[in-house]
Amino acid sequence: MNKILEVENLSIAFQQYYQNTKQRYIKPVKDLSIEIKEAEIMAIVGASGSGKSLLAHAILGVLPSNSEIKGVMKYRGNAITKADIEKMRGNKIRYIPQSVKYLDPTMKVGKQLKINLKNKTKEEILEKLKQFSLDKEIYDYYPHQLSGGMLRRILFLSCLTEHTELIIADEPTPGVHPEILEELLQSFLSFKEKGISVIFITHDMKAALKIADRVATFKEGKVIDISYPSDILNGNPNLNDYVKKLWNSQPSNRFLEEVK
Ligand SMILES: Nc1ncnc2c1ncn2[C@@H]1O[C@H](COP(=O)(O)OP(=O)(O)OP(=O)(O)O)[C@@H](O)[C@H]1O
Ligand SMILES: [Mg+2]
Repeated sequence: MNKILEVENLSIAFQQYYQNTKQRYIKPVKDLSIEIKEAEIMAIVGASGSGKSLLAHAILGVLPSNSEIKGVMKYRGNAITKADIEKMRGNKIRYIPQSVKYLDPTMKVGKQLKINLKNKTKEEILEKLKQFSLDKEIYDYYPHQLSGGMLRRILFLSCLTEHTELIIADEPTPGVHPEILEELLQSFLSFKEKGISVIFITHDMKAALKIADRVATFKEGKVIDISYPSDILNGNPNLNDYVKKLWNSQPSNRFLEEVK
């Protein structure tokens, strides 16, 4: 399978001021390398602060201005610049955020979808709503009139265009009802069937293992392991100890271990 995205030796540093005048650098992402294949679902797991969102922001080209970034990013085998990323963001590369607050509360859902799905007609958008089990009346609703589950469906739906090649979802399912979670996981599988690659960043390893082709574990700004879900689920004896601990510490595994 061809690679869609390669990140090579990515380092991200931040300049910080402390005690008013002194300056220091912190480097939360260090020499991180990862590659995503076409139509692959790559789950990214790891403790809080391990650099998952920073990787997402680097790929999307939205790191803050006080950051310094080093490394190479390749898209379909070609090295890409910040300008290339800007062209692809919201087009070939789409983002599903953690918070439904991403939607504009003052704008009707239909209008927001029309902005996101640029060339789609109203009829085509109504058809998409139907595909995601949403009534067509929702087109004229404001976000506050919808439930959390419906809003999540809208976020998923709004990244699905014929141009989409890579979706980066950063914690897209926090606190959702199990039924909605299943549905959203199914949506990822249907994206994959369309040939789209998905980077699925999550703390919910159980959900990740259900749909991912591979699972990358981050620790302190590095990829420390890449495994197949079956290795984790079946307790492969060669599985990295930290990944084992992370898996055992999941709420669904009754917090068998504490991750330090
Ligand atoms: N704008 C920033 N300025 C300075 N440091 C930052 C900035 N953004 C992130 N960091 C540092 O980078 C570390 C990694 O952040 P990141 O948001 O990638 O973690 P994460 O793995 O996504 O965590 P979580 O699971 O909680 O979302 C943070 O702990 C923080 O120390
Ligand atoms: Mg994060």
